[in-house]
Amino acid sequence: MSTRKGLILAGGTGSRLWPITQGLSKQLMPIYDKPMIYYPLSVLMLSGIREIAIITTPQDQAQFQNLLGDGTQWGVQITWLVQPSPDGLAQAYLIAEDFLAGDPSALILGDNIFFGHGLPELLASADRLSEGGTVFGYQVADPERYGVVGMNADGQVTQIVEKPEVPPSQLAITGLYFLDGTAPERARQVKPSPRGELEIADLLQSYLAEGNLSVERMGRGYAWLDTGTHASLLDAANFVRTLQSRQGMQTGCPEEIAFAAGWINAGQLKVQAARYAKTEYGTYLLGLL
Ligand code: G1P
Repeated sequence: MSTRKGLILAGGTGSRLWPITQGLSKQLMPIYDKPMIYYPLSVLMLSGIREIAIITTPQDQAQFQNLLGDGTQWGVQITWLVQPSPDGLAQAYLIAEDFLAGDPSALILGDNIFFGHGLPELLASADRLSEGGTVFGYQVADPERYGVVGMNADGQVTQIVEKPEVPPSQLAITGLYFLDGTAPERARQVKPSPRGELEIADLLQSYLAEGNLSVERMGRGYAWLDTGTHASLLDAANFVRTLQSRQGMQTGCPEEIAFAAGWINAGQLKVQAARYAKTEYGTYLLGLL
């Protein structure tokens, strides 16, 4: 089991998806048959992380709590924190400083969806590094929408730039960051960017400058899905639906991960399955027993 703590950042106004996110947090919206936040939560659980803080806006917190509670149903412990205004991803480390108490962390953005056969191994290798940081680069067609990796002629990573007009490469940085215990103190050094945010790219740059950041490539065998536009939201749902109905296996299923890890027993899984008796999800959970 990992001693690393997990952070899920589920703040923001979701303004790029208005009007659908005007009355409901983006990260609570469905990706086919599950709320969006199930997917990033599952990634942290797959990393072996059981102490997880979820950062929401003050107004959305109660709805997230209704959905996820304190995590005991999945053998994890959820701590609830708030980000009063969307002042940047690096702020997550300031908000969570007491929760982290000097421990290494894995931060995942509540709207990032990952799928890939080798994912547990990739996560485990990032987890093993207790000093410095690991981020994941993924080739995309539209890098200007993300944090992007810049490299020198030898292919060494030299910079990470946020939403560059002229992207130095097609390698985007995904919203999953394994950082050591120094992340909060580094976040304190980050100055607001021209758009007024504490940029994660600047925090990563501080690791990079010391030669302490490893950029792992997530290859073409992985899906890193975007949920930032109406079309990509639908694409993500269709992806999950296609995969699940073809394989008869769930993706982003916290009960399954918890049961496989031995964090909940058969009796506890049965209780969860009974809650979803009217759905295919419930049938699936019963089938795991
Ligand atoms: C954020 C980060 C960006 C990263 C992206 C991944 O962008 O700032 O570096 O590539 O998440 O989803 P945002 O989604 O806040 O625009």
